[in-house]
Amino acid sequence: MAVIGIMSAMHEELAAVLAAMPDEQRVRVAERDFWVGHWHGHDVVAVLSRIGKVAAATTATVLLERFKVDALVFTGAAGGLAPHAQVGDVVVATGLVQHDMDASLLFPRYEVPLYGRARFDTDPALSEALAAAASQVLSDPAQHLGAQAIADFHLLSPRVHQGLIVSGDRFVSTTAESQALQRSLPDALAVEMEGAAVAQVCLDYGVPFAAVRTISDRADDDAHTDFNRFIREVASRYSLAILSQWLMHR
Ligand code: ADE
Repeated sequence: MAVIGIMSAMHEELAAVLAAMPDEQRVRVAERDFWVGHWHGHDVVAVLSRIGKVAAATTATVLLERFKVDALVFTGAAGGLAPHAQVGDVVVATGLVQHDMDASLLFPRYEVPLYGRARFDTDPALSEALAAAASQVLSDPAQHLGAQAIADFHLLSPRVHQGLIVSGDRFVSTTAESQALQRSLPDALAVEMEGAAVAQVCLDYGVPFAAVRTISDRADDDAHTDFNRFIREVASRYSLAILSQWLMHR
């Protein structure tokens, strides 16, 4: 049976996934805890991604080398860049770019040297299936979130977007930086700190990759507002519900 790797960016998300896995066993590799078990009848290995491109790439490499995962799905939060990527929306990546990659004396801006590309595409079938699961979950937020969170974060009609996510080793939290990113990468829907690196590792191993991110902030001067509460009360619950919905119908 295919082994599915799940990388969660946040502790709360991983805890929710582990609570849904009846029989997980902990295996410690490279100072990380990998949780091997089952979910909806699938062989699953779940792990905290860790933060930033290098840490996430290491985690992904262990999932691929040691645990031989046949598909890798990343869930977490992201800052919205495109005007329509609003807090509470979900972005399913079709491709990812490292926004802080710049070897531009030798290679075009954003191109990863020796890969001949800046953009790393996700697996279309995997991404479509996750987008369908996300649409299902977001069609009725009240089924997954508390009434107070829906009211406080204005989550009455959240939307699913599919498109470009950009990654870099910076938490983007100023309007100036967010606008600069939007100007230089106008297709980017959202920004986070791991996805493009994991996509690159998955390309190296020829393993299908998908990434699902809940928009937690607008990557602007207000980006810190209630971040931890949003992760706990919204993003983690969406991740759990989307993964569960996807695995149930896979
Ligand atoms: N993850 C969630 N919000 C983010 C932001 N504004 N920048 C980078 N990563 C993020």
